[in-house]
Amino acid sequence: AKNVGILAMEIYFPPTFVQQEALEAHDGASKGKYTIGLGQDCLAFCTEVEDVISMSLTVVTSLLEKYKIDPKQIGRLEVGSETVIDKSKSIKTFLMQIFEKCGNTDIEGVDSTNACYGGTAALFNCVNWVESSSWDGRYGIVVCTDSAVYAEGPARPTGGAAAIAMLIGPDAPIAFESKLRGSHMSHVYDFYKPNLASEYPVVDGKLFQTCYLMALDTCYKYFCHKYEKLQGKQFSLSDADYFVFHSPYNKLVQKSFARLLFNDFLRNASSVDDIAKEKLGPFSTLTGDESYQSRDLEKASQQVSKPLYDAKVQPSTLIPKQVGNMYTASLYAAFASLLHNKNSELAGKQVILFSYGSGLTATLFSLRLYEGQHPFSLSNIATVMNVAGKLKSRHEFPPEKFVETMKLMEHRYGAKDFVTSKDCSLLSPGTYYLTEVDSMYRRFYAKK
Ligand code: ACO
Repeated sequence: AKNVGILAMEIYFPPTFVQQEALEAHDGASKGKYTIGLGQDCLAFCTEVEDVISMSLTVVTSLLEKYKIDPKQIGRLEVGSETVIDKSKSIKTFLMQIFEKCGNTDIEGVDSTNACYGGTAALFNCVNWVESSSWDGRYGIVVCTDSAVYAEGPARPTGGAAAIAMLIGPDAPIAFESKLRGSHMSHVYDFYKPNLASEYPVVDGKLFQTCYLMALDTCYKYFCHKYEKLQGKQFSLSDADYFVFHSPYNKLVQKSFARLLFNDFLRNASSVDDIAKEKLGPFSTLTGDESYQSRDLEKASQQVSKPLYDAKVQPSTLIPKQVGNMYTASLYAAFASLLHNKNSELAGKQVILFSYGSGLTATLFSLRLYEGQHPFSLSNIATVMNVAGKLKSRHEFPPEKFVETMKLMEHRYGAKDFVTSKDCSLLSPGTYYLTEVDSMYRRFYAKK
């Protein structure tokens, strides 16, 4: 199979959200801390009728319907998620309901978990399957679904929720350049979920930021090394058209791109412009550790990378800023934003993606885009996802109602024997919602 990759995409995020500006005021944070400091506009969240299973049922059903895919044509289904509802039963098995009723139970794949990286692991598995001798000619589907919620405190505004479904196969408009990949994996405690009685993570925010940037540096180093071996020339930021980052909050994406420019400067000063050379010069003698701590370097590199950021990164930031961190779905929601903003203009372009999952696992990888043929064309994918329409039809909640919802969800986490309000008035037609968890913890969903 040639040009294996993403043939089609669909995205779902809850229609309920809070404005970061309102949350700032409600939390007593200084004005601008969440909007400028973190770079976030809104935060989407699940109310008591939605969860990662309902969102993934919604997004997979919609993907199959909108691209007119017969469920019998699916041979592999992989889910990436870090939102644990059951310690044994995979989310994938819930999704089998869609396929069983069409008589297809011959579908490989289960869930992959490691923080925000599970979706990338699932995607690589699926692409590898299509490229392998065990491929049976059918499509794969990869689902990334997460609800990011935090205890009250500084991390809470970095929540979010969404599900993404991607159809995988050959001759894709979004093709993997599988030889161009750099990974970095190591053992750290930056963000983890050791308390099985709570949905909330334990997070060391400062350590997380440093781990993310260190992982980025290392992946970039390996990536460049492989590129140079394959292409016989050095790689620099100007070689790729767009850079898409896992986005816990937008400020970190700005810092990440700036960091890549600093890497280019250190490796080959002639690959950056004169202003960058002059401004970054004073930092060239810092040790690695010092460079992660230097506020001056952060400021200078963000400043000199701004024009390139606006051209190569900004088009991928819309959904992560509007929805918040979607964990496994975050990187692919950023990529969906790029498709939304540029669609058929992307034909022929190279896009570099950085996936990061705390703990930690990270990969920098490359995609090559083609216009593709209907229904699997860049322009049709953008039309089907209807990002602008979905963002416009949302319902804003005041922060008090958001906090109230978080309290109810804390209470419901791991609980049994309850029925929900079944209030689906805010959901659009076709959306799945949770109706009941019975005395045996079995979960039941209905479709609006
Ligand atoms: N106006 C403008 N900017 C402001 C203002 C203001 N009024 N107040 C603060 N800021 C800036 C700060 O200068 C800082 O920016 P900088 O980083 O460029 O210096 C930024 O806002 C954040 O302020 P801090 O004081 O550093 O914020 P705090 O320590 O309260 O929390 C943090 C930020 C650490 C990101 C926190 O939200 C967090 O821990 N989030 C969770 C992160 C996480 O979960 N990561 C893992 C998820 S992804 C995964 O792989 C699982």
